Amino acid sequence: MNQPNPFSDAPYWPHLMNPRVAPDREALIAALEEMRVWTILMAEHAKFIRLGLDPNPQQEEFFRTADQFAIQLDMLYSRTIATPPTAPNEILYQLREETITLVNQLILLKEQIFNALESCQALGILPAILIDHVRREADRFVGTLERSKSNLQTRTRQRLGLKDGNRYAQTVPRLLYHRLPPEQLFTVAIEESMFFDRTHAEHAEHLSMSFRPEVQEKYRKRALRFKDDYHNLMLQAKEVESTRSDLGKLLEENKKLSFSFRDYLTKLLDEISTCRIPTGQTNFPPLLADHMRREVIYFIDILERIRFG
Ligand SMILES: [Fe+2]
Ligand SMILES: [Fe+2]
Repeated sequence: MNQPNPFSDAPYWPHLMNPRVAPDREALIAALEEMRVWTILMAEHAKFIRLGLDPNPQQEEFFRTADQFAIQLDMLYSRTIATPPTAPNEILYQLREETITLVNQLILLKEQIFNALESCQALGILPAILIDHVRREADRFVGTLERSKSNLQTRTRQRLGLKDGNRYAQTVPRLLYHRLPPEQLFTVAIEESMFFDRTHAEHAEHLSMSFRPEVQEKYRKRALRFKDDYHNLMLQAKEVESTRSDLGKLLEENKKLSFSFRDYLTKLLDEISTCRIPTGQTNFPPLLADHMRREVIYFIDILERIRFG
């Protein structure tokens, strides 16, 4: 099989070409900024997996492994938050390496549980598609961190669930967008749109399946509309990549929809946490609504940072 060339579309990272230059401090800080958002989300993935497995004896090992990841990722998150951007290079470097190693291990667990659920070797209430969803998020996260430390691209588009799967994904930390030439920033904008449009469509779909029948119908219908709208934007992103036009319109529509989805999730979280939602509870953990809300806020931040010229 033809392997894609990881150095094609090489980014504009001239100071990384020369190993004798000083460490790339800006890239370390940009990586830390990604870790502040995503290590806690990774810890929550481990907790959702722990919660979503059937408590029969066969799943005990998966449960305990997921629990260990939750503990370790919580500790890593605490260290990340306690590390200021002014910390010495060695500390920032070490933290990034540890994060990459731990999240790569978490990816293996997610793959293992996804395969076990798909083949009915394991049982649980968390849909297998959601395990694949959190695996894609972890791959994007690690790929982004690795792009901050070298010119090498390690994640194919296929790993992120994007079209043209043989190509390497260009995703870089948000704080480094200003380094990219317009052509590469265009590709990053398209990849992030495709990735997060799919991600949020899946969030909305999962919510729609998790509201209580009849009593929470209004919430279910609104979630389904978000699913359709994000799905349409994902198709639009593919079109923009082919025609190389209307990127500005795509980003604006993404922003508008994401503000609306953020407000919907904020209101939902408020109603759940004060037990004002009809019947007082939902069939999904309240933290899931907050988790999705933070992921949509992250996407809005990406959209606001993509600027040409
Ligand atoms: Fe997530
Ligand atoms: Fe997600």
